[in-house]
Amino acid sequence: FGERSLAGLKVLVSAGPTYEDIDPVRFIGNRSSGKMGFAVAEAAAQAGAEVSLVAGPVSLATPPGVAQRIDVRSAAQMHAAVLQAAAQADIYIGAAAVGDYRPQEVATQKLKKHDGSELVLRLAENPDILASLSAQTAHPFLVGFAAETHDVASYAQGKLRHKGLDMIAANQVGGGLGFEAADNALTLYWADAAVALPRAEKSELARQLVAHVAERYRATRG
Ligand code: C5P
Repeated sequence: FGERSLAGLKVLVSAGPTYEDIDPVRFIGNRSSGKMGFAVAEAAAQAGAEVSLVAGPVSLATPPGVAQRIDVRSAAQMHAAVLQAAAQADIYIGAAAVGDYRPQEVATQKLKKHDGSELVLRLAENPDILASLSAQTAHPFLVGFAAETHDVASYAQGKLRHKGLDMIAANQVGGGLGFEAADNALTLYWADAAVALPRAEKSELARQLVAHVAERYRATRG
């Protein structure tokens, strides 16, 4: 793979968790650190792409070479930011751990405890960013992530098909890998093949992932 395999291309990356507010002091979040997505953004910039990064709430510095960073908090904000930026992108890599649900109502005042009684939070489903993009007639080359605790291969291949993706990067969560960890291990799937990227630092895996994305992009859209 060439050193500047993404030269001339615009790449949009989403990274990090989303926070869904319950009230002014509480939220529903997840354990994504944003490290994998930030590493992917950095690797894409190193490969010559013009990179835009949509980041959920993380405390990570913008990687060198990234042209534009848009910070968001909720899944709805990420959905809006990604759909807007995707209109200019050749490739979208969705590495963010987008919250599947949000509280149906956000309390304007801090919720109070009522001794002994249960509290019921009603949740509404968030729109799927990747599925929204793939439903559009003209859309970027779409790369998804699938973080799974079990049955990784079958869930990943299912998401590849159901979300209409060009490629998916699957990883097993747990055992010092995945969320919050420095290392990861990925298996990439596309329609007719799979390739395993063994355990390595996220920066190294990101470089390998970007090389495969560039190769698949050139083969199908180049
Ligand atoms: O279905 P699941 O959330 O496991 O799929 C993960 C992939 O889908 C990731 O690439 C994630 O960024 C994307 N996703 C999305 N919009 C959502 C939920 C997940 O784009 N609302």
